[in-house]
Amino acid sequence: MKFAKILSVLVSVAFVATMVGCGPAATPVPPTTAPALTSGGYVIPVAKCAPNCKYSDMTVGFIQTGSESGWRAANTSSFKETATQQGVTLKFYDAQNKIENQVSAFHQFNQDPSVNVIVLAALDVTGYDDVLAEAKANGKIVILEDRRIDAAPTTYYTYIGSDFITEGHKSAAALCDLLKNSAKKNVVEISGAVGASAAIDRAKGFREKMGDCGMTITQSQTGNWGVPESKAVMAAFLKQSTDIQAVFAHNDEEAIGAIQAIEEAGLTPGKDIFVLGLDATADGFKYLISGELSADVECNPLLAPQVYEAALKAMNGDATLPTWVPSQEGQFFSAQGPDALKAILATRKY
Ligand code: AHR
Repeated sequence: MKFAKILSVLVSVAFVATMVGCGPAATPVPPTTAPALTSGGYVIPVAKCAPNCKYSDMTVGFIQTGSESGWRAANTSSFKETATQQGVTLKFYDAQNKIENQVSAFHQFNQDPSVNVIVLAALDVTGYDDVLAEAKANGKIVILEDRRIDAAPTTYYTYIGSDFITEGHKSAAALCDLLKNSAKKNVVEISGAVGASAAIDRAKGFREKMGDCGMTITQSQTGNWGVPESKAVMAAFLKQSTDIQAVFAHNDEEAIGAIQAIEEAGLTPGKDIFVLGLDATADGFKYLISGELSADVECNPLLAPQVYEAALKAMNGDATLPTWVPSQEGQFFSAQGPDALKAILATRKY
């Protein structure tokens, strides 16, 4: 009996000892800060300098599509100029419109210890899954600019770019208005580069609304965002049939190519055939002012300030930004008249 009593006392002393920590010191458990998670479920690789990171702590690996248009040139300048102004270190890569170049540059930036933010202007909507996963594994913040991709929002912090479907809607509404007195409404489409979200979504948006006034797309082909190729495409369309009342061109260069072909065919753009472009660059304005271009739906290239601001938020663990920040954009018409258009053009940066 006496032995059992002693044993139970010993057991309870041992139990208390561990509770009050006579045993080996427990390793302090750092307070568990929940990972910063965006509304899209993206786990933000918060930077070491958080929450007081500054632009001077930011090194951006920027993967541009190429230099296919006036819009693209303005977009590139926006990133280079704003980086200088903000004191951001910018590693700029021009992929010359080849997706394989984009993927290998993305991999390089993933391996580059100095890079903490990767910004992608995607040529295509697919093909980036591996490098997105590698970026996550390597703690790189990923931001999409200009073009969306078909990837889960868990793979990037945010997308800053245009609502291309709405641009398609606006284009259809503008052509409906231009063709309101025309018995026939045959439209030919010069689309952007195959695979680009800008081309896919503009085409989709236009088709969603073209029925509102009974427009039909009678011919469609890519002009790859350029003047010479689009001129050849339009010349081929006119050879096929001159029963065309309007052109839906996915950017200003394609619209200008179409205008050149229409004039070479002895027809008058803005009278025999209405031409609509997208971007509203300075070149587009020139043709609006001359009346050869009837409408131009804006696509805003000056995205760098928003992108760098978002990147800094991410570095500081701010998860409040939505997964998509659509750009603010307008539209312009030759009917506004040369003087008004010249006045507007004078205020624009691209
Ligand atoms: O993604 C935007 C598009 O890309 C512009 O409309 C076009 O000019 C550029 O190539």
